[in-house]
Amino acid sequence: MPPSAIPEPGVRPSDSRFHCIDCSHWSDSASPDYRCPRCGDLLEISYPEWNKSGMSSRASGVSANDLKSTWKQRRLSSAPADLSGVWRFRELLPALNDGQVVTLREGNTPLYEMPQCARIAGVPHLSAKHQGMNPTGSFKDAGMTVAASFAHHAGYRWIACASTGNTSASMAAYAARGGMRSLVLVPEGKISWSKLSQALDYGAVTCQLRTDFDGCLRLLQELVLRAPVHQLNSINPFRIEGQKTLAIELMEQMDWQLPDHIIVPGGNLGNSSAIGKALLEMRDLGLISRLPKLSVIQAEGANALVRTLREAGGKRLIGVNAETRATAIRIGNPASWKKAVRVLEATGGACEQVSEVEMAQAKAEIGAEGIGCEPASAVTLAGLKKLVKQGFVKAGESVVLILTGNLLKDPDFTIEFHRGDLFAGTPHESTMTALSTLRRPPIVLDATLDEVLRTLEQADKTAPSG
Ligand code: F0G
Repeated sequence: MPPSAIPEPGVRPSDSRFHCIDCSHWSDSASPDYRCPRCGDLLEISYPEWNKSGMSSRASGVSANDLKSTWKQRRLSSAPADLSGVWRFRELLPALNDGQVVTLREGNTPLYEMPQCARIAGVPHLSAKHQGMNPTGSFKDAGMTVAASFAHHAGYRWIACASTGNTSASMAAYAARGGMRSLVLVPEGKISWSKLSQALDYGAVTCQLRTDFDGCLRLLQELVLRAPVHQLNSINPFRIEGQKTLAIELMEQMDWQLPDHIIVPGGNLGNSSAIGKALLEMRDLGLISRLPKLSVIQAEGANALVRTLREAGGKRLIGVNAETRATAIRIGNPASWKKAVRVLEATGGACEQVSEVEMAQAKAEIGAEGIGCEPASAVTLAGLKKLVKQGFVKAGESVVLILTGNLLKDPDFTIEFHRGDLFAGTPHESTMTALSTLRRPPIVLDATLDEVLRTLEQADKTAPSG
């Protein structure tokens, strides 16, 4: 059913303006595809008031310390915006005129110590910020509450996205909460059932297209110019603003003692752009005094940013035909590559790639620590090991991994890994045997006490170390 025509309401944030990342054109409103009307590049949301006074007009006269204590105070409040780990930091977000937020109490995600993984990677201090603990199980919720609130405020009836799964799950949930309809375009057969089932349950019109993610996104960009649907991919700069709060909350959780490194998976590159933007803004506002290095890790089979930096010096995108079992980051032409290149350069971060087997190993190691994540998130630990070997992460430096999705997002991967079926019949099969000590396959037994006791005894003899 095509959406019924509604006048283009346009989304206008107060106190902030749209700014083209390439030609620096400023505007107060954006076209439906969120592209610069002059040069067609991506837009970002900027806060001109901050440039004048070093602080938002809403917070003018307020010091960085005041902001920190306001955010802390709000933890005691039961107002919906304060219960959100995103809107709690609203001084650094575009202002919603009516203050009505579409929220599921996103953010407020835990920062876990990872002593076992630290030992494995060879760093003294490693923690993981688990964005998979968000309401729909991924980091997407932090951006979605902002983009959905502005879409709702502007009166949009339909919101839409192309997705490798998590964006669609998140968008469908926020659409439902905000009383909007949602349209999801996903690559057929290339997203996990868990993510697909979320979109269905939250009431999205879900189209499985016979293409890849890049094909879905291309089609969406055309669709929003033809139909009154509002696009909520990370091209939408409101998404980036919400995802910024991950970094603010992280700094707060670390009592504003910065880590030396933050490591994030890279797919469409919205999240790395958002974290980098937050770090730069926090530094400009005096909330932090220096920048942690932000590094991006990709799967070898979806390594557009790695190639763009190595082969084109970050000047032009080198797209790839993406292939990886980490379906969340199976993306060949990342939309936000330019933004990501800039934040990597600004923070002095690295960009690395890891193999399918390195990713599977890291995922099992994170799981064995009682944390668990989806495959795409595990590239962070696999990448860290490489960055330590290369000497980029130095002895004594502290590291935070951003785990982007919940373990339950892709149970097939986990079960196949433990059963020993992962990559069966592929060139990776032989290398997987080296990981047999990490596998914990389910054991089928007759339902007798003896059988269970014998299994327990055997398992006790082969107890894993650590
Ligand atoms: N990790 C997970 C679990 C993801 O779902 C994604 C992206 C990424 C990492 C990469 O983040 O795109 O900001 O660089 N998932 C998108 C989606 C593309 O449609 O769910 P990115």
